[in-house]
Amino acid sequence: MTRPRGAPRGAKHRPRPRPAARTPPPTPFAGGDFNIDSLAHGGAGVGRCDGRVLFVPGAVPGDRIRATEVSWRGGGAYGQVVQFELASASPLRRPAQCPHRPRCGGCPWHEIDPATRAQAKIEDAISQLQRIAHLDAVAAPRILDPSTVARWGRAGHSIVRVDPDWGYRLRARLHVGRTGDRVCAGYLEQGSHVIVDVERCGLLLPVLGEPTSRALELARSHAWPTGQLHVAVGVQPLATGAAFIAERVGPLDQVARDLQSAGFDLVEVADGDATIRGGADPVAAEALRGVVAPEVAGGPFAHGTRTFVQAHAAGNRQLVDAVVRCTTELGPGTVLELHAGAGNFTLPLARSGAHVRAVEFDERAVEFLRNNLDQAGLRAAVEVVAGDARAVAQTVDAAFGPIDLLVLDPPRTGYKELEVLVSTTVPKRIIYCSCDATTLARDGRGLTDLGYRLARFDAIDMMPNGWHAELVAVFDR
Ligand SMILES: C[S@@+](CC[C@H](N)C(=O)[O-])C[C@H]1O[C@@H](n2cnc3c(N)ncnc32)[C@H](O)[C@@H]1O
Repeated sequence: MTRPRGAPRGAKHRPRPRPAARTPPPTPFAGGDFNIDSLAHGGAGVGRCDGRVLFVPGAVPGDRIRATEVSWRGGGAYGQVVQFELASASPLRRPAQCPHRPRCGGCPWHEIDPATRAQAKIEDAISQLQRIAHLDAVAAPRILDPSTVARWGRAGHSIVRVDPDWGYRLRARLHVGRTGDRVCAGYLEQGSHVIVDVERCGLLLPVLGEPTSRALELARSHAWPTGQLHVAVGVQPLATGAAFIAERVGPLDQVARDLQSAGFDLVEVADGDATIRGGADPVAAEALRGVVAPEVAGGPFAHGTRTFVQAHAAGNRQLVDAVVRCTTELGPGTVLELHAGAGNFTLPLARSGAHVRAVEFDERAVEFLRNNLDQAGLRAAVEVVAGDARAVAQTVDAAFGPIDLLVLDPPRTGYKELEVLVSTTVPKRIIYCSCDATTLARDGRGLTDLGYRLARFDAIDMMPNGWHAELVAVFDR
């Protein structure tokens, strides 16, 4: 068996440890070597063998594959390769920079050449828009680097690559659990709930990576209870924070002490409503209240260890620029912003002169949002609505007042109420940010019937080692 370049010796290609399907194909699968031709939505490589389509997680376009275990679907018409041998490696395959690959599912596209994966992301997003939303007004996309965007001034049907693509992540969610008597701490295997023990995550910003490594080691040696470990960093000062959310009661004082000794400035340990908060210096931790990341919103900006923050600082600058640019083009006006978080778009939108009504349902994020607005002196420009964005669509009426622009940035599940909201509020422009092209396309499907057209569609390759990109779709009436 040939190892992929960079893979540890003896590594097996077991991208998805699923049991093989109970129903084998009616005609036996002849097997044999086949090429990976493309990358599918969801990240797997795609090839054809013996008249069937095979999805191969972990494969790179140009790889030559020999499937040794397949989980069949569709009566044997297609299948997911559970285990394979790499007959020959693609020239687009990069050596892994991480000893935990290919087992660790944190970076499923780590080994793919950066331009190839950027191209695959924008093509996938456009194909979802065409297939699901029947929007075919999207011109051929370009791949840009940040300096090109700066020179050119504005993107448009493009994917913007971001630097760096390693050692950049501002936050992560890791897992602590048990396999038999052993405590494991790290990320999940791709497509499974099995925890891969991680010693060091090179995807994290080094200032976050080091305390995280120490915390994971302490989780194993001090047998923490099962739970999730959220780690986050602020860019300036380089404060790190960690929250551990226990799934069942355990020695939480010990966990808090361990996180402090690992070097986190702010520590929160929670089990249900009970939270222990502290830090290496408890006074500083209390003053810190959140992890301060001024770069994220172009001014002082704090978020919590458990509230949402975009994972890539440089990519986020591109994202915020895109949203603000598409807003200021319309001139001063009223913006309804759904899914505001701690104010990543809200603050720059308010600074640009817009009057913003910002909706967010996570109480912790709302608290940070209000504080961030106070700190920035922008409270008068923003009406904060602490509530569910879905309810806004159901309760909106003429008294809501006119909206010039609707900005939304929902979680991966999307915002099914978009059509209802738009048919009542009739904004001039809708800016839909999303990291999931399928739900964006589903939600945008009815907009053409309401008189909107897709004016611009951009992506920012904010998660370069994964198969997602941050998408910005602009619909005009
Ligand atoms: C992808 S994050 C974006 C946050 C912010 N725009 C940013 O760039 O940091 C989505 C946000 O939507 C919030 N959210 C999710 N579902 C919501 C809902 N139904 N109503 C209101 N807010 C929601 C989450 O708490 C989270 O803060």
